[in-house]
Amino acid sequence: MNATILPNSEKHYPVLLKEILSIISPQNGGTFIDCTLGLGGYSKAILKFKNTKVISLDRDIKCKSVAENIAKEKKNRFLFYNKRFSEIDQIEFKNSKIKAIIFDLGYSFSQIKDPSKGLSFENKGELNMRLGLNNFSASEVINKMSQKDLELIFKYFGEDKDSKIISKKIVEQRTKSNINTEKLVNIINSVKKKGGKIHNATKIFQAIRIFVNKEISELIYGLINSAKIIDIDGIILAVSFHSLEDKIIKYFFKSLSEDKKVSRYLPEEKNYNKLFQAVNKKPIVPTQTEIDINKPSRSAKLRYAIKKKNLINFEGDFIKKFSKLLEIEDLSKKL
Ligand SMILES: C[S@@+](CC[C@H](N)C(=O)[O-])C[C@H]1O[C@@H](n2cnc3c(N)ncnc32)[C@H](O)[C@@H]1O
Repeated sequence: MNATILPNSEKHYPVLLKEILSIISPQNGGTFIDCTLGLGGYSKAILKFKNTKVISLDRDIKCKSVAENIAKEKKNRFLFYNKRFSEIDQIEFKNSKIKAIIFDLGYSFSQIKDPSKGLSFENKGELNMRLGLNNFSASEVINKMSQKDLELIFKYFGEDKDSKIISKKIVEQRTKSNINTEKLVNIINSVKKKGGKIHNATKIFQAIRIFVNKEISELIYGLINSAKIIDIDGIILAVSFHSLEDKIIKYFFKSLSEDKKVSRYLPEEKNYNKLFQAVNKKPIVPTQTEIDINKPSRSAKLRYAIKKKNLINFEGDFIKKFSKLLEIEDLSKKL
């Protein structure tokens, strides 16, 4: 789930960086959008090439110091906005032609290690999980939402088979005292048998994080709005870390891509009736060498597509396809 990994405290390995650079060709210059600045891995790598500019976003205000350090060095070539990427269409690009928009989803190593964020099940304190610019915390979700709603969140966002029993236990236990991270992990452990490949709490924590950060609508509208603002021949790239994200990205690119071969006798743009040109059917994944250096990169999947046509109202089917997930996200309106 986390792309930015620091196996030792010094080194930062941005996931699939070599592959991303070879797709976006920064050596030819141009303006790029890094939707998830994090520790700045992609932005810094792009800015090493002359005649490049990077516009970056991150919902976590703590990334501002990363941005300030980059800006000191690269002055007029780098900008940072503390915004959610679903709002990418609200940024003023001053007629810059955008060559590529990159999403590296999830959270960074420094965020999971930050106890104030409460993302890790190794934490002892309050449940939180807010990455930044949120309306409610994980503590409110776990301590206030109904059993049925919790069950739906765990089932759809965590795909956890014990969603019902875990949600029942939470509702039972919270009548005695508020549930914090430690208590939640204990409840999950009391339901599940030990010895699985992943930590017992992984799926439930993933579900809560997705819900708190509205990661489904962020991704859906991040992709839609990127497709609206990017220029013809611009590339949208997304690195995901779990199957729910990958399903959304795959459907977006596939359902809006032209499959047929392009005739070489027509001017290229006229050949495309769909928004994108299909590129790879299969996602790009890290090499064994990358996984050996940076183990958690093993779950990363990169997909991308090239915009070929300006279309309006292309998003209806895409939103409809994931309407159940968006409905679950909307349960937060009850908070
Ligand atoms: C995996 S890290 C990115 C790492 C980055 N590529 C690097 O090399 O340092 C993901 C980042 O995306 C940010 N993020 C997650 N969801 C976001 C959203 N909806 N809008 C903006 N930023 C978001 C997180 O705060 C985090 O800093």
